[in-house]
Amino acid sequence: MGYINMVDMRKDMECILFSEEDIQNIVNRVAAEIDRDYEGKKLLVVGVLKGSFIFMADLVRQMKNKCELEFMAVSSYGAGTTSSGQLAVKKDISTDLTGYDVLLIEDILDSGFTVSKVKEMLQQRNANSVKVCVFLDKKERRTVDIEGDYVGAVVPDAFVVGYGLDYAQLYRNLPYVGVLKKEIYEGK
Ligand code: PRP
Repeated sequence: MGYINMVDMRKDMECILFSEEDIQNIVNRVAAEIDRDYEGKKLLVVGVLKGSFIFMADLVRQMKNKCELEFMAVSSYGAGTTSSGQLAVKKDISTDLTGYDVLLIEDILDSGFTVSKVKEMLQQRNANSVKVCVFLDKKERRTVDIEGDYVGAVVPDAFVVGYGLDYAQLYRNLPYVGVLKKEIYEGK
């Protein structure tokens, strides 16, 4: 593992799960669902960094309704996989949520811990509503009781990277979603 491996990221992939075309279809479908549900509402789209940045950028550009944008950065600790863990807010939003319908954007719902904590935090701030939109849902990994209101695709419990999703901060810039070869993350 090292920067030399970035010369050709494709060779580090076991397979491609979602091509650029697949992703475009997913994004278009989800954007249409959001447009339908939020027509006439004061919508604030909140991206949770870093993983959501590419999905969010594509999604909001396919939406026809007006919206405002914000970003948060958080990190989980204390096992991070149960509802009793802790979430540290590294960057908060600055908008007063009164009167807003908030849509949280995440790249992936895994244990569900991060989304559930962030959602809970924003719900305490007087928003009209707080809903969740995720690009990928690793349903079988869920340990916290939370579901996405808008889900791009359900994926198996594989090491997925690309389109914002990383391994050791790399591969986020892949335009597709791939499954990382075992030898990469097992260091062989
Ligand atoms: C990833 C992802 C979600 C979270 C999902 O973030 O972006 O925020 O993990 O896992 P959970 O459902 O088990 O909480 P990560 O902490 O890797 O940061 P990143 O977005 O900067 O990659």
